[in-house]
Amino acid sequence: MSGNTFGTVFRVTTYGESHGPALGAVIDGCPSGLPLSAADIQKELDRRRPGQSALTTPRKEPDVAVIESGVFEGRTTGAPIAVRIVNENQRPSDYGDTARLFRPGHADRTWFEKYGLRDYRGGGRSSGRETAARVAAGAVAKKLLGLYGIRICAWTESIGPIAAKSGAPENAESNAVRCRDAEAAAEMEAYIQAKAAEKESVGGVVACRADGLPVGWGEPVFDKLDAVLAHAVLSVGGVKGIEFGSGFAASLLCGSENNRPGHSGGVLGGISDGEPLFFRVAVKPTPSVFKTQIFRGEDGTETETALRGRHDPCLCPRIVPVIEAMTAVVLADFALLGRCSRTGKPALQTEEKTLK
Ligand SMILES: Cc1cc2nc3c(=O)[nH]c(=O)nc-3n(C[C@H](O)[C@H](O)[C@H](O)COP(=O)(O)O)c2cc1C
Repeated sequence: MSGNTFGTVFRVTTYGESHGPALGAVIDGCPSGLPLSAADIQKELDRRRPGQSALTTPRKEPDVAVIESGVFEGRTTGAPIAVRIVNENQRPSDYGDTARLFRPGHADRTWFEKYGLRDYRGGGRSSGRETAARVAAGAVAKKLLGLYGIRICAWTESIGPIAAKSGAPENAESNAVRCRDAEAAAEMEAYIQAKAAEKESVGGVVACRADGLPVGWGEPVFDKLDAVLAHAVLSVGGVKGIEFGSGFAASLLCGSENNRPGHSGGVLGGISDGEPLFFRVAVKPTPSVFKTQIFRGEDGTETETALRGRHDPCLCPRIVPVIEAMTAVVLADFALLGRCSRTGKPALQTEEKTLK
């Protein structure tokens, strides 16, 4: 299996399966001297971990981050940073009934056809649990970006037909759906719970904004800033679409309208243009639902049955920190790559603050 590593200079490799002993991330290419503690990583993991509210899976995982290398006396050394997260709440018995069946909407059949075998326990490596490792790596990237004065904030913009109407993105952490609009958040919660009671799940839209980006990040041919962000974000399970700035709505505008500030999403020609980076992602309804469905088996037969186990009726609240993490990993990489653009000091780029 290839493709377990992401990035060019700031390179993140994740490992581990949903019901294996542990999962984790190895971050290569992080410069030395960056202050970093397990608490910096834990803060982000606590936002992604299951069991945070009635809206997330009751699987209780403390998701404790252990830094195993690359940090000495509270600072990065320049060596690979390894972060391990032990899986403590495996319950493979939840999957006994459906072990030889492919769950609809999951990667079960495609992985089986590709590799000839699969870890049926929660999807193994294809599980959303793999994103805990990404969040750990994203926490390191966020620390690095802090030196450049960059802040990343993602939030739930809509759930099913209910959309946020007002509110600052920073408000989103104050409710369980992570929506910037408290009134819409209450409606969203009720909607998710009503659908969960029908043994159903729902999807939504997550938005992300990064402030403080200098002009000039992004490599403008194959590794455009928006292209790499799309790669990073679409690699998160359950994310089905992405649009930058005016996005698909740009197709309805005239050129002069779309040329106005705020429509670019902060990227022109694959290079950051100095405006806030802004994009939205479409999140599909959680594939695991408790309704009776038709399952195809490894032997080609079809069975009508229902899933057991523990699943989020809506992925958006837990995908929010994952989107921030992947954005941070991409931006940290471009921050380091940006140092190679010119001889001398790039005129328009922010220099990182000197470490004390
Ligand atoms: C943080 C996170 C948590 C997830 N939790 C669940 C879950 O509890 N149940 C589920 O069916 N899918 C969950 N998923 C989504 C599946 O992993 C994903 O839909 C599946 O692997 C198929 O991939 P695809 O939807 O990208 O095609 C989660 C995804 C993420 C990112």
